[in-house]
Amino acid sequence: MLNINIRDSAARVTEEALLQAIRDAAPVLKRAQAGEEKYADSQGWLRLEQWAGEDWLRQIESIAERVKKTCDAFVLIGVGGSNNAARSVIEALKEDGGVEIIYAGNTLSPHALNKMLRSLEGRDYAIDCIAKNFETLEPGSSFRILREAMAKKYSPEEAAKRTICTGTYGSSLEKLCQQEGYTFVPFPTDVGGRYSAFSFVGLLPMAVAGIDIRSLVRGGRDMEALLHATDAASNPALRYAVLRNLYHRQGYALEMLASFEPQLRWFNKWWVQLFAESEGKDGKGIFPVAAEYSEELHAVGQYLQDGAPLMFETFLDIQEPTDHLVIHSDGKQDHFDYLNGKDFWEINRAAFDATVTAHSAKMPCVILEIGALDAYHFGQLFYFFQFACYLSGELLGINPFDQPGVEAYKGWMFKALGK
Ligand code: PA5
Repeated sequence: MLNINIRDSAARVTEEALLQAIRDAAPVLKRAQAGEEKYADSQGWLRLEQWAGEDWLRQIESIAERVKKTCDAFVLIGVGGSNNAARSVIEALKEDGGVEIIYAGNTLSPHALNKMLRSLEGRDYAIDCIAKNFETLEPGSSFRILREAMAKKYSPEEAAKRTICTGTYGSSLEKLCQQEGYTFVPFPTDVGGRYSAFSFVGLLPMAVAGIDIRSLVRGGRDMEALLHATDAASNPALRYAVLRNLYHRQGYALEMLASFEPQLRWFNKWWVQLFAESEGKDGKGIFPVAAEYSEELHAVGQYLQDGAPLMFETFLDIQEPTDHLVIHSDGKQDHFDYLNGKDFWEINRAAFDATVTAHSAKMPCVILEIGALDAYHFGQLFYFFQFACYLSGELLGINPFDQPGVEAYKGWMFKALGK
């Protein structure tokens, strides 16, 4: 379902050492599989049934159908965990046509916000304000300017019909929905933003964009079943979590997530957020960075191959061709005839193999093989990394579900703005 291979010409972690570390970590896996009392308020994502069961899926699909019938654009207002999962799938898989998804709530730049508002001119749209803690300035302020824009375009009743809020039960956002007649849908109280792909937070915008959310949830469920049923020796999430911690202890402070598929550009952001916000605390953590090849091979590639040995690399290796394009000769002497008749899929794979060979001489390379780039496998990836991040955080000795450090800048900002 998801294979993990290691390429490391210096064998920095031997198979024997890895197996021993996996055996040592077996109690961590057992506790995670059972669900831990100390994290009871953050583990609603551990069982997909809770927030992505049949009843929820039907509700999501019904709201999405309503939006699709009345809108040609949909504004996702959300920051961090409130937008990254949906965006990573939509930007990778959305086909041309249908409702366009527009993003707000993730910036305070007036230039970006004006551009976003201009992109809505002359279009029929709905908005979804996704906010777990409805105090965050970025989504809160975007919600305001979008309400103002809607008030200019629609009657109060029509604007209310076109306004959805994803918030926690009992929150001020829910009260606002009751007062104004907006549609309110739940942001799971027991799920943090970065773990919320399988809930209204991630699934509603995906469904509006025409993504097959049932396949995505099926992929997540299959991965959930695998990771909960397998023991330490054959559990891929534990293997990955243990490996990254072993490399970290050897002095590799950074992990680079790399792939040769630009479709994964926004997934990279989701992954970086998941690990940075979950692990970077108490003076600890592996710093997550991401690279999109071939582009970055001509930039950070130099540093990776020749610079300070700071990082290990994790490659996402898509097995099934994402597309085909054959390159032909046009008879001109451009010295590229060695490419005649080759498919770009094959050429891209050659670049992948060459890069792994070159980089593994310098640093440990972990290769995660994924069947295909579709909704089903995105579901697998979300669950795999969420579970692995939980295990890895436990091995590191931090709480993978809180984010106290994010509050520091907020405090200074609120002070500066007179809150
Ligand atoms: O993963 C997280 O918990 C965070 O990234 C939050 O999702 C992000 O800060 C947005 O929070 P909120 O929805 O409360 O505005």
